[in-house]
Amino acid sequence: MYPDRVLSGMRPTGAMHLGHFHGVLKNWIKIQHEHECLFMVADWHALTTHYDRPQEIEAHVWDMVIDWLAAGVDPNQATLFIQSRVPEHAELHLLLSMMTPLGWLERVPTYKEQQEKIIDKDLSTYGFLGYPLLQAADILIYRANRVPVGEDQVPHIEFTREIARRFNHLYGREPGFDEKALQAVKKLGAKKAKLYLELRNRYTEQGDDEALEAARALLGESQNLSVVDRERVFGYLEGSGKMILVEPQAMLTEASRLLGLDGQKMSKSYNNTIALREDEASVTRKIRTMPTDPARVRRTDPGEPNRCPVYSFHQIYSDDATRDWVQQGCRSAGIGCLECKQPVVDRVLEELRPIRERAQAYLDDPTLVRNVIADGCERARKLAADTLRDVRESIGLSYS
Ligand code: TRP
Ligand code: SF4
Repeated sequence: MYPDRVLSGMRPTGAMHLGHFHGVLKNWIKIQHEHECLFMVADWHALTTHYDRPQEIEAHVWDMVIDWLAAGVDPNQATLFIQSRVPEHAELHLLLSMMTPLGWLERVPTYKEQQEKIIDKDLSTYGFLGYPLLQAADILIYRANRVPVGEDQVPHIEFTREIARRFNHLYGREPGFDEKALQAVKKLGAKKAKLYLELRNRYTEQGDDEALEAARALLGESQNLSVVDRERVFGYLEGSGKMILVEPQAMLTEASRLLGLDGQKMSKSYNNTIALREDEASVTRKIRTMPTDPARVRRTDPGEPNRCPVYSFHQIYSDDATRDWVQQGCRSAGIGCLECKQPVVDRVLEELRPIRERAQAYLDDPTLVRNVIADGCERARKLAADTLRDVRESIGLSYS
């Protein structure tokens, strides 16, 4: 039904905060209605950097999933699962590792950066070097063609594409490719299928490039093929047929970035967050005590919103009229900072109220969340097993 398949994942960092909500979750909640979506808890990825403290991971997993659900990720629309419960990822990771050049891993920018940045633990491990390959396996095992990620993850998606290309190049044709492609062609409908086959003949037998173009255009406007079938039909047309794994595209979100309380990136390690389940008194106090433009020492000093962390909240939460009121009031010292913060307090509390209530329902009955995940893992495993079967066969590992 949906031609696109989306996969995304997050490492289990525990309870989510407003930065996650505006930067990631709101986007997931939107696209779950537009595409087939799989959302994964990347717990093995957490182990690559927290292998010395694995005890924390479990609680973080459940806290994170509760917040996904409370924020509005809908298990009837999307598949929610935990990476380590789908061991097929590990087998694909292993098989891909055989053909992954070390240099490709060493050149992934996050590798050196993280190693230099994280000094409190030893990251010269096999698992840490393999982080992007594990991520590639996460994506490729579902033949996901779209991966919503932040800017920092783009090199990992690029790396995944290269791995897919290398795999397809090495292991060539899907077993039974011609029959599968012809089955897929039938799904175009009788008329289009006939035209496609005619054009394909003209191209393959007479080298007619116009026929190739026409066939491509024909496929371009056919919406009723799955991703896999579409690739088969394209591959059959050009005689390549090399498409066991699908090359994914990064889906960059123009994330409305909410900064932290102090104006830096919102992050637990900076201690500048508002958690989705934080109680009202604490949220109110945190916003009321937020730093403002340092130039506004006294109430009578004019300020500059662009130098004030509170204004970055107004940019997310306030309408034009309120923002005008802030700009004028701040620059003319017409309003006080507490006055300026009140609409933000109101909006944030309003936004968090239903989220906190939904989270409470999941906290009261933990089996709800366990069931959502059990279900999602089962669905994910089926999809993963299909790809893995083709991968094993194409390498020649399906002994019978
Ligand atoms: N590396 C990602 C991050 O740190 C998390 C992740 C793991 C992921 N596997 C993935 C993201 C697959 C997208 C697709 O944010
Ligand atoms: Fe910041 Fe508002 Fe105070 Fe201006 S009036 S410094 S924008 S809190």
